[in-house]
Amino acid sequence: MAQEEILIVDDSSSSLMWLSELMSGVNYKVTCAKNAQDALSILDNVNPDLILLDVDMPEMSGLELCVLIKKQERFKNVPILFQSVLADSNIRIEGLTAGAADFLSKPYNPDEILLRVGVHLKLRALQTNLEETVAKRTEQLVTEIAERKIIEADLLQSKTQLRQLAEHLQNVREEERRRIAREIHDELGQMLSLANIELKTLTILLSGLDCANTQLSPVLQRLDYSLKKSAETARSISENLRPGMLDTLGLKPALEFHIANFAKITKLACHTEIRLDNRADIDDHHATVVFRVVQESLTNIAKHANANSVSIRVIGSEEWLLVMIEDDGVGMQNSGGPRENSFGLIGMAERAEMLGGELVVESSTGGGTKIEVFLPMRRLE
Ligand SMILES: Nc1ncnc2c1ncn2[C@@H]1O[C@H](COP(=O)(O)OP(=O)(O)OP(=O)(O)O)[C@@H](O)[C@H]1O
Ligand SMILES: [Mg+2]
Repeated sequence: MAQEEILIVDDSSSSLMWLSELMSGVNYKVTCAKNAQDALSILDNVNPDLILLDVDMPEMSGLELCVLIKKQERFKNVPILFQSVLADSNIRIEGLTAGAADFLSKPYNPDEILLRVGVHLKLRALQTNLEETVAKRTEQLVTEIAERKIIEADLLQSKTQLRQLAEHLQNVREEERRRIAREIHDELGQMLSLANIELKTLTILLSGLDCANTQLSPVLQRLDYSLKKSAETARSISENLRPGMLDTLGLKPALEFHIANFAKITKLACHTEIRLDNRADIDDHHATVVFRVVQESLTNIAKHANANSVSIRVIGSEEWLLVMIEDDGVGMQNSGGPRENSFGLIGMAERAEMLGGELVVESSTGGGTKIEVFLPMRRLE
């Protein structure tokens, strides 16, 4: 440990010498000043660990000097111990207010002085140590916070990029579905219709032949059945991929058709309320999201809910669209986060977020499930 340094300020040469010898005797480095002016000049170049200050000095008193020293930032933690013959408590209070750490009474008791000086030096060392630790830790924290901010910004950027990618993929998928649905409907549908016409012609042509009824009739019937089934399957695949109605007639008729079909197949009581005020300005993105949310929610009800009835509400204003699908089924059995290989709810949430909206799911075991999607009409930035 470095040798500790003490500045002694006293106008009495005998006191100065006595204190100096006492302090040097226990290996403190001592500097002496005979008055306040000397002390201030010494303090320009010296950084003592403790100052012993006489209260009564001519020209400038110890109290005034103490105030001047304490004004300087670098002496903020340097303990100043007053020495005085005056035991007046007012002076003590004044001294402590001026920034003194303690009072030593004259006549001196060397053991007491050394003990007090030792205690204050120890306190100062502890305080300095604590301040250094705090400063170091603060610096580390500042660095950590700066690093964390960079990581957070990176994460945010990755999240934004992922969302943009998901949005792009959804759009590409929707466009691809629309194209394949149209091709199945137009190309395959037309070929099947054509084959059906040809079959009808063939049936008429063959009806004049004697053998036709006995041998060909069952074959023609089977062919007719196969063609009809193929046409139905092609239509249903095309509709499932992308309902043509959504593009031709709009959201409301497409929803009504889909819900009616769902009710027919599942035999569930469906209460439907679609209030879009004949709005023609629901763009393709919003219409697709609403349709897909209803489609996925109804599929989930058929697959998982074991419900008796379903309520479907789609309400639109100039500013927003609200979709609510509620069933009275078994409710979600496990609400503890997403499951493996279950993407319906995630997809719905993603589609809603793509348009600046949100998905809320309310469900309790035995208490049914409610899916709510809120979409602003203008994308919120
Ligand atoms: N209406 C509902 N009633 C009861 N449980 C439901 C309902 N909707 C969803 N769930 C539960 O939530 C889970 C997640 O649904 P989600 O649509 O994400 O996936 P999935 O239907 O299992 O599979 P995917 O939609 O990917 O084909 C389901 O597996 C089911 O357990
Ligand atoms: Mg699902």
